[in-house]
Amino acid sequence: MGGAILAGLVASGVPHGGVVVTNRTAAKADAIDGPGVVSVALERDPEANRSAVRGAGLVVLGVKPAGIPALLEAIRDELEPDAVVVSIAAGVTIATMEALVPNPVLRAMPNTPSLVRRGVTGLAAGSRVTAEQVAVARTFFETVGAVVELPEDRIDALSAVSGSGPAYVFLVMEQWTAAAVRLGFDEAAARLMVEQTVRGAAELLAASDADPAELRRRVTSPKGTTERAIAVLDDAELSGLFGRAMDAAIERAAALARGEA
Ligand SMILES: NC(=O)c1ccc[n+]([C@@H]2O[C@H](COP(=O)([O-])OP(=O)(O)OC[C@H]3O[C@@H](n4cnc5c(N)ncnc54)[C@H](OP(=O)(O)O)[C@@H]3O)[C@@H](O)[C@H]2O)c1
Repeated sequence: MGGAILAGLVASGVPHGGVVVTNRTAAKADAIDGPGVVSVALERDPEANRSAVRGAGLVVLGVKPAGIPALLEAIRDELEPDAVVVSIAAGVTIATMEALVPNPVLRAMPNTPSLVRRGVTGLAAGSRVTAEQVAVARTFFETVGAVVELPEDRIDALSAVSGSGPAYVFLVMEQWTAAAVRLGFDEAAARLMVEQTVRGAAELLAASDADPAELRRRVTSPKGTTERAIAVLDDAELSGLFGRAMDAAIERAAALARGEA
């Protein structure tokens, strides 16, 4: 996820002062490149995280949730007093992080389309964060997409909607493409039809004042073919299905926050 944000950041022009990125492995670090980006590996320099945060105004933590406490403990002494610390880890609370460092802390929940600067990031501010510091974090994530500010207790719900959201779209596309192949189209043609339709529909929606329900009605002539297909999809009770899927994701986030594997 951190790599996706970095790629989006590089595409939009790395801010003045540059970015220092760390990874554990040299292989990962060597694969990262871009103007204004310095990439270092802990494998070569075990102190790299500590030196990376020295002088930094914004510190973004992109390790797995279980790694956040040890990482904060490792960098605590080197953080600038007013450095803004933002974690993108699911399930690690602001209270946990505020107990480990004296800095202003925010939680962010981005999604992978950040890679192409079409991400959505939820942003929740901790108790020590000023409006100016929220603006710094917001500007950072806005370089890779849209930002939704929200209280921390809503971040698992946002994660269920947009954090995991790209996977829902890809799942639908997988099944839709498979159906096209069963109709006799080869894989390439099936992919082209589904991918271009999804991209076209999303761009049509973005360019329109109408909501998805209205745009759907405009494609659905009474007694036409689309109406028949939509009736079949409606039989699957999509609204209940999506509700249960969101609930399952939110429940899992709570379990992760309790430390369950
Ligand atoms: N995937 C998503 O769609 C998504 C969305 C929202 C939030 N998140 C959050 O993003 C975080 C990362 O998830 P991911 O899927 O991107 O995992 P990932 O692919 O395993 O990425 C973690 C990265 O952290 C590096 N790393 C691990 N320990 C480190 C340390 N001590 N110092 C410096 N770098 C270290 C790893 O480097 P090496 O590979 O070299 O060890 C790796 O590049 C998680 O906390 C997750 O909750 C993910």
